[in-house]
Amino acid sequence: MSATPSRPKPIRKAVFPVAGLGTRFLPATKVVPKELLPVVDRPLIQYAVDEAREAGIEQMIFVTGRGKTGIVEHFDIAFELEKTMAERGRDTSVLDCTRAVPGDVIAVRQQVPLGLGHAIWCARAIVGDEPFAIFLPDELMVARAGGSGCMKQMVEAYEEVGGNLVSVLEVPIEQVSSYGVIAPGESRGKLTEVRGLVEKPPVSAAPSNKIVSGRYILQPEVMGLLAAQERGAGGEIQLTDAMAKLIGSQPFHALTFDGARYDCGSKVGFVEATLAIALSRPDMGEAVRAMAQRLLG
Ligand code: UTP
Repeated sequence: MSATPSRPKPIRKAVFPVAGLGTRFLPATKVVPKELLPVVDRPLIQYAVDEAREAGIEQMIFVTGRGKTGIVEHFDIAFELEKTMAERGRDTSVLDCTRAVPGDVIAVRQQVPLGLGHAIWCARAIVGDEPFAIFLPDELMVARAGGSGCMKQMVEAYEEVGGNLVSVLEVPIEQVSSYGVIAPGESRGKLTEVRGLVEKPPVSAAPSNKIVSGRYILQPEVMGLLAAQERGAGGEIQLTDAMAKLIGSQPFHALTFDGARYDCGSKVGFVEATLAIALSRPDMGEAVRAMAQRLLG
């Protein structure tokens, strides 16, 4: 397992690609972006931004597209709403987590959704020459009670090994063809060396059942590789293909997140996340458990 000799540059910036079409949630996502669909009472994007802040990330870069501006507005100060609530003696603290530090929310546009790799490349001028994090907000990562979030665990590992990191989880082998899959090398605790990466392989060609699950720490050199705009699986410009080219020239590791992951890009995963979070909430868990038991007969 490789480690960098000096302390790596800190991770200050995060890219949130949110320009996808969200077709699996139509008609809900015809006007409302998938990332603003609420899991209980917070939009999906809020969970990802909270996780970034917990990991010490300061600058949130949203790669948006047509009809997605509501995502950026969510992090504005809702002046009239807050004033009216305050006048009526209502508590506005529920809005605290939505207020961005001025200048720390940045939006860039991806005019045509050409793929995840292309979306990340659209943020190149803001990322500049720094390592950065990527969050796919529809992968909802929930820390264990009293534990750290996924990106915080990744940043801690990155401080030790530097280079590039992805979060991974194991799935039944017959499911790998929907995901990016790693070819694993040596493992130590939660960390595994990454020897190869392949996007949506057929089951017969999959190098493992460890899939990349929506969180990345990457070195800025990936932007130069994405600039070639090569098409991969599904005719899209794939982030996985550009990351694969970094292997060998820079350290590359995978971290198995100690916590729960919900695939909110799928309808069943979204319902599962909603139920799991509702059950874990002190303000409603008991009532939701009773309701679920009643529904299950
Ligand atoms: P998905 O594969 O989940 O696609 O993208 P999608 O468009 O969001 O949803 P479906 O499959 O049509 O239902 C994974 C992530 O990459 C972003 C998406 O917004 C999502 O966060 N993405 C994807 C882009 O920003 N641009 C793209 O060109 C493709």
